[in-house]
Amino acid sequence: MVVTHQTEMPINPIFNPEGDDAIENRSIWFGNTTNLMQLNDVRYTWAVGLYQQMRENFWIPQRLDVTQDVTDYANLTDDERYAYDGILSYLTFLDSVQTCNIPHLKSSITAPEISLCMAEQISQEGMHNQSYQYLIETIIPPDRRTQVYDFWRTDKVLKDRCEFIAKLYQKYIDDATPENYFIALMADFLLEGLYFYNGFIYFYNLASRMLMPGSADIFKMINRDELSHVRLYQKLIPEARKVFPHSVEQIYEMFDMAVNYECRWTNHIVGNNILGITESSTEKYTKYLANIRLRSIGLEPLYPEPKYNKSPYTHLERFSDTKKEAHTKANFFEATVTSYVMSSGVTGWDEI
Ligand SMILES: [Fe+2]
Ligand SMILES: [Fe+2]
Repeated sequence: MVVTHQTEMPINPIFNPEGDDAIENRSIWFGNTTNLMQLNDVRYTWAVGLYQQMRENFWIPQRLDVTQDVTDYANLTDDERYAYDGILSYLTFLDSVQTCNIPHLKSSITAPEISLCMAEQISQEGMHNQSYQYLIETIIPPDRRTQVYDFWRTDKVLKDRCEFIAKLYQKYIDDATPENYFIALMADFLLEGLYFYNGFIYFYNLASRMLMPGSADIFKMINRDELSHVRLYQKLIPEARKVFPHSVEQIYEMFDMAVNYECRWTNHIVGNNILGITESSTEKYTKYLANIRLRSIGLEPLYPEPKYNKSPYTHLERFSDTKKEAHTKANFFEATVTSYVMSSGVTGWDEI
C-alpha cells in the first residue's frame, strides 16, 4: 500500500481511547494506536532486541580518562588542531539536529516498540552533545572553546554543510506531507550512516599514532551508538519504501549529493594535511560507505568500481569498538579493561 491520499502526516494524539493496539492491526505509520506503550505483544520483534542493545550500550563520557589528551593537544601540529576543533564543531551540529529532529519523525510512529527505540536514540544524541562539551571543556584551551561552537559562523564550508542537512529536515516541518516525511527519513539515514565516519576515522588515526587516546575512547563509544541508529533506519527504510511515495532515482540522488557534501567538508577540514588521510582515501571511504548503506536497504551500489568495495582504513579497525571479537574494550595504551563491557550487539566493521 502506497499512501497517496494523505496530504499531511497524521500526528498521534497524546491519548486515543478509540485506538487499537492489537498486533495484527499494528503498523509503523498510519496505524490507529492508543499511544500507550503496549509492549506486552509486539509486532516488530527486532525493535525489542535493538532497544535492549541500545540500553546495554549505556556509558558516561566523564568516566573516560582524557588526561593524556590535554598534553597531546598542545603538541599537535596546527593542521591537526584545526581538524580536531573543526570536526568537533561539525559533530556538535550533527548531534544537535538529531536531538531536535527525531521527535518530529517519532510523533507519527504508530508502533510503540519503534517509538521506544527512537526515544532511546534521542537520549543518546543528547548525551553525545554532552560528551563533545566534555572534550571541549577538558582538552581545548579556554580561548578556543567558543570558536568550536561558533565555527559555522565564520566557516562557509561548514555553514553550507549545516544548511544542506538542516534544510531536508526543515522541509518536512514546513510542509508535513508523506513525501517530505520520506525525505526526512532518508536524510536521517544518511546522517547516521554516512556523515559521522570520516570524523571517527580522524580520531582513530590520531590514536594509531599514539595521540589523543581518551578522545578516541569516547569516539568509539559514540561510534557504537551511531551504528545502533544505523540499524534502526536500515529496518525502517525498506518498510517506508512500501508505504511512502518516492522513487529509487530520488534515493540515489540524495546519496550522491550526501557523498559530495561529505567529501567537500572532509577535504576542507582534513584534506591532505594529516598523515594517513588523503583526499583520495576520503573519497574511497565515503563511496564505500554509501555502497554498503545502499546494499543494507536492498539497493544496488551507486559506485560499482572495485576500488569502492573496500574500506581504505581497515588498519584502523582495532581502534574502533566494532569488531565482532572486540567484546572486551581495552584502553588503547594501558590495555586496562574499561567498565563498559556489556554490549556485543554490533557484529563487525562491515556495518560501519
Ligand atoms: Fe549521535
Ligand atoms: Fe545517531
